Amino acid sequence: MCGIVGYVGSGDTLLVLLEALEKLEYRGYDSSGVALIEDGKLFIEKKPGKIRELIKSLWGKKTSAKAGIGHTRWATHGQVCELNAHPHSDSKGEFAVVHNGIIENYRHLKEQLLAKGIEYRSQTDSEAIAHLIALNYKGDLLEATHKVTKMLEGAFAFAVLSTHEPERIVAFRRSSPLVVGLGEGENFLASDIPALLPFTRRVVPLSEGELVDLRPDGVSIYAEDLSPITREVMYVQWDVISAEKGGFKHFMLKEINEQPRVVSETIRGLISRESELPNLADFRRVIFVACGTSLHSAMIAKHWLSRFQKIPSEVYHASELRYSDEPISSQDLVIAISQSGETADTRFAALSAKERGATLLSIVNVVGSALDRESDFSLYTHAGPEIGVAATKTFIAQLSALYYLSTYNDQKLRQKLSLIPALIEEVLTLSERIKALSPELSSTKSALYIGRYLNYPIALEGALKLKEISYIHAEGLPAGEMKHGPIALIDEKTPVFAIAVQDRVYEKMLSNAEEVLARRGKLISVGFKGDEKLQSLSKYAIEIPKTDEYLTPFITIIPLQLLAYFIADHLGLDVDQPRNLAKTVTVE
Ligand code: F6R
Repeated sequence: MCGIVGYVGSGDTLLVLLEALEKLEYRGYDSSGVALIEDGKLFIEKKPGKIRELIKSLWGKKTSAKAGIGHTRWATHGQVCELNAHPHSDSKGEFAVVHNGIIENYRHLKEQLLAKGIEYRSQTDSEAIAHLIALNYKGDLLEATHKVTKMLEGAFAFAVLSTHEPERIVAFRRSSPLVVGLGEGENFLASDIPALLPFTRRVVPLSEGELVDLRPDGVSIYAEDLSPITREVMYVQWDVISAEKGGFKHFMLKEINEQPRVVSETIRGLISRESELPNLADFRRVIFVACGTSLHSAMIAKHWLSRFQKIPSEVYHASELRYSDEPISSQDLVIAISQSGETADTRFAALSAKERGATLLSIVNVVGSALDRESDFSLYTHAGPEIGVAATKTFIAQLSALYYLSTYNDQKLRQKLSLIPALIEEVLTLSERIKALSPELSSTKSALYIGRYLNYPIALEGALKLKEISYIHAEGLPAGEMKHGPIALIDEKTPVFAIAVQDRVYEKMLSNAEEVLARRGKLISVGFKGDEKLQSLSKYAIEIPKTDEYLTPFITIIPLQLLAYFIADHLGLDVDQPRNLAKTVTVE
């Protein structure tokens, strides 16, 4: 999973590419590179490490190039090194390629290239594209690229540059995102919209199987059979500042603090699309598919649907549904939840359910993303771009959309959503108190998170936040399961985070808290304000405002997000770009 950028025009090609690449770094950041056509020759610079390494090595470079492509890499084939970094070129150095995704038949293609005597330099699947385009080039880059797309199998997007046509970029997408940005006398290309925002707000997301031909004076889009396509131009409303840190130390902290606003904006957006939604009562059951944080919001929504609509539902890890024998029919509504709308596991699971007859409703944050376009219905979460790799505000936005959907025929229940922004604001005032716990907790080797009912998924989400950014082992558990094994892990060094609000499972949670104490565990509780019983059991008690049991997940997660953030920051870790992770996972 990588990021691609491209530029054609008479601006400062190198500056545009580097600035756009920085905005895409969240997609992957183990190496980066650019290719330019300068005086009829291909110039390529690439560096392992973060994009600042590439910027350092190009510092002061002036260029007259009118076209260039760039890439930030998150390795799938071949280790992290300069040779495997993109752009890749053909043997004569006439064509350069940047690529995102996986070419599944690359071994076979590579053998064919080697048999032709072509020297294959990297361990990547991507290099094959550059050689194939060189072999098939007969004077027209679009034609050669089109021909090569027919030879490639897999899910990918790529962009090509050639010394033969120094003011032209041709790109193609199949199951990996690619967006065109339109300028005046210049045009842009990127894997995602935020990378285009410093330059233009007029964008066209490419659809499945589309090719794009970019020149300074125009952009042409073609279908897989090379027939020209006319596409509507989307005007992006996000401001650039909202994609910047806004005074916070990290994007993650900024995004945690944006959550009250995100709930309000998501609700506003949902109200405006009310009439476009499917009627839940038309379906026999709902199947949720999602990954990671988005899966946790689905687990909460399952309870809301059971309670408010009496509709049976299943929650599937997206990666488990596609290859399952789950009987799915036209009576099923599949709800695919994805911040990016590009997660391969989620998309492919959703598409396979659609093929089996289900209706597909997606809940996405990125309008125009693949999942959005592939769905029968879409709901948008209006969280704005989320830059921190750890999902925070998009989780709250997903909960808002799911609660809204689950209460479609009960205005009284629905209106309760309007209470959420103020409740979250109140929890955010606890930031300093939560920060004060981080020095002690950051020496932890392993932590448990326990909860029941609506707050079991919050235990999972709290544990996921801690492990992904602080690298501390953490496990989320239904509290009742502790006695079936995990309780053996508890000793005086193990913090146990218990979410114990006064809901239907409160008394049971208190018993679980007692079990922790009996094993000398360190209990850190998240409970309602003034709950003396819980406080008496806790080493540290985080007190949140009282609210209806159904709404508690919106606020119990906030202290856990903050805790994970402050612990990781105390450890001096790269909170926004944790190791081994990427924001959008476009490979299965
Ligand atoms: C966790 C996190 C991931 C994503 C998962 C799904 O903080 O960010 O677990 O939630 O990769 O991503 P989307 O929602 O884009 O499909």
